[in-house]
Amino acid sequence: MPAAPTYRDSAITPQLEVALHRIAAGGATSEMIRRELVAVTSELVDASVTIAEPDGPITANDMTWFDIAGRDGLRLGVARELGEQLRAVVRVLATFAGMALEAAALRGDAPAAAAPEPTDVPGFIASSPAMKRLLVDIGRLAGSTATVVITGESGVGKELIARALHDRSSRAAKPYIAFNCAAVPHELFEGQLFGHRKGAFTGANADQVGVVRAADGGTLFLDEIGELPLDIQPKLLRFLDNAEVFPLGAQRAVTVDVRVVAATNRDLAADVRKGRFREDLYYRLQVVPLAVPPLRARREDIVPLARYFARSMSDGGAMPAFAPDALSALASHSWPGNVRELRNVISRALAFSPRPSVLTRAVLGL
Ligand SMILES: Nc1ncnc2c1ncn2[C@@H]1O[C@H](COP(=O)(O)OP(=O)(O)OP(=O)(O)O)[C@@H](O)[C@H]1O
Ligand SMILES: [Mg+2]
Repeated sequence: MPAAPTYRDSAITPQLEVALHRIAAGGATSEMIRRELVAVTSELVDASVTIAEPDGPITANDMTWFDIAGRDGLRLGVARELGEQLRAVVRVLATFAGMALEAAALRGDAPAAAAPEPTDVPGFIASSPAMKRLLVDIGRLAGSTATVVITGESGVGKELIARALHDRSSRAAKPYIAFNCAAVPHELFEGQLFGHRKGAFTGANADQVGVVRAADGGTLFLDEIGELPLDIQPKLLRFLDNAEVFPLGAQRAVTVDVRVVAATNRDLAADVRKGRFREDLYYRLQVVPLAVPPLRARREDIVPLARYFARSMSDGGAMPAFAPDALSALASHSWPGNVRELRNVISRALAFSPRPSVLTRAVLGL
């Protein structure tokens, strides 16, 4: 008989880690834990989810039920049939939430020391609950040096979030260095990351500090981390574990104090399974995973973003209005290119003169 799949086998692992992180948010009250449990589960299973009280009314039985550990009779109900993997995942969530509820009860379920307010980040539009939660997380990570990995489709705003993590952190006055792993020829990778001494290889005419040391005291943003060559991955891991780098041609290692934020639009868990990405580095990076949902999954952000772009592209002049047909077209478009596509749509509409004072669906070209 084949072994039962565990959540570790599942492509859903990074999502699950985010979910656990949300349920366990420090000092949560049982009310908050229940709310997060329902929210994260319904996102994961893409179906409606309820919590049934032990002595509550009998609920429809075309649901899949999970015991919430340690709370007699309290159950989590999912309004759909689940495959073996999702079932394993939801079981983990329900068990974990049960433990968090126990802990909250032991604390006397003290009301949370004021629910955390989303940090305000200028130029970062966040109207949807998912993005507001992300802003709360950015605020909570301000004093942390934990490695963050930001995942999400192209154009969702990963780079903006990396910058906000730095600007809101206690390292804000120190350097922020962005390094795009997709834009460096393989043979230059190690030198550009970790630096080299003059003469370390043909063409090394001067010392180079490398981006890691350039970011000392601050933040290094490793964009497109999924493109990091396999032979460089152990070297990055060594730097993350030991906080030291070994410049090419140098006699000894140099200690650095760098907070790493990485981003990718690839499914790193899938790359690990295909042998394209090292598993040890994957887990080392996942200390704090931040998943940015695609724009189509947070439609409350669309119109505020459109207005924000229209305003910022109006160069102080009158901001164009959005016609009702434009608003409904914006709201129903699927935005495969996410926020970047939305920005381009507004930018194209405002490129022609005379500038339209009303943006209609036709003007937007949707
Ligand atoms: N919440 C937001 N508020 C305001 N502008 C945003 C927001 N999210 C994204 N943008 C803008 O959308 C554009 C794309 O964002 P960004 O470059 O951060 O995406 P990305 O996830 O890094 O994409 P890629 O994977 O292609 O590198 C940028 O111009 C960014 O400023
Ligand atoms: Mg980017």
